[in-house]
Amino acid sequence: MNIIGIISSPRKNGNTAALVREAMKGAAAEGVTTQEIFLTDYNIHFCTGCSACLSAGICPLQDDFEQLKQRLYKADGVILGSPTYAASPNAIMKNFIERMGMFERFTSAGFGGKYVVGMSTAGSMGAKKVANDLTELVKGSVIRRGYVSGTLGVSVKGGTVNDIPNALTQAHALGKRLAQDIRSKKSYAWQNLFGRMMNRMFIKPTFVNIAKTQKDGRLRAVYQTLQQQGVC
Ligand SMILES: Cc1cc2nc3c(=O)[nH]c(=O)nc-3n(C[C@H](O)[C@H](O)[C@H](O)COP(=O)(O)O)c2cc1C
Repeated sequence: MNIIGIISSPRKNGNTAALVREAMKGAAAEGVTTQEIFLTDYNIHFCTGCSACLSAGICPLQDDFEQLKQRLYKADGVILGSPTYAASPNAIMKNFIERMGMFERFTSAGFGGKYVVGMSTAGSMGAKKVANDLTELVKGSVIRRGYVSGTLGVSVKGGTVNDIPNALTQAHALGKRLAQDIRSKKSYAWQNLFGRMMNRMFIKPTFVNIAKTQKDGRLRAVYQTLQQQGVC
């Protein structure tokens, strides 16, 4: 079992990194291998909206995104950690999520079947909302569902996470839970039940249909991926 912690703060010893690291310690205590990825160590361009990923399966931009994507694909669990900037995940994390792009939307190739945790820290407010926002791509998985093991948002109130009682304890416990969920294949039967029903009845058949009609053209790689997943 392996878990990656993807951190979008430019501050390697900042509050968000401290939370994610503590969660990874919790996961490691459950016997899971962990890897830390700081997005600022990588060259990741903005999505140009060319949609070439849908036909080619990979992004044509020459940067580090594809190697990061492959690491995410291989993980059993993912911790997404972003500082709260302007009441949202920061631009570095948003950029990474956008680069997962329409291919992820059409295939769930990255987050489908995975267990995910969202974490954020804020100076004053908004961290809980942002931690939750980070899991939206997983909750919105159309082709194959992902699982949210939990979220943690901490307001540091002008200090650091170390000053906030229980923040690191909660992070540690959440990391343990993530590892336990992966091991037990926890089903989270009620999670996003309504959204999943809508997906199954309307959105997934529509996506599959579109992929079939464009299987030799614009959606070639999407169709091939859905075939490999036994969906088409
Ligand atoms: C550009 C910028 C925007 C920010 N926006 C918010 C905000 O909207 N709400 C808030 O409570 N804190 C905000 N903060 C404070 C950070 O969220 C807070 O210091 C956080 O813990 C930083 O995380 P880090 O140490 O992992 O980088 C902002 C900080 C920066 C640099």
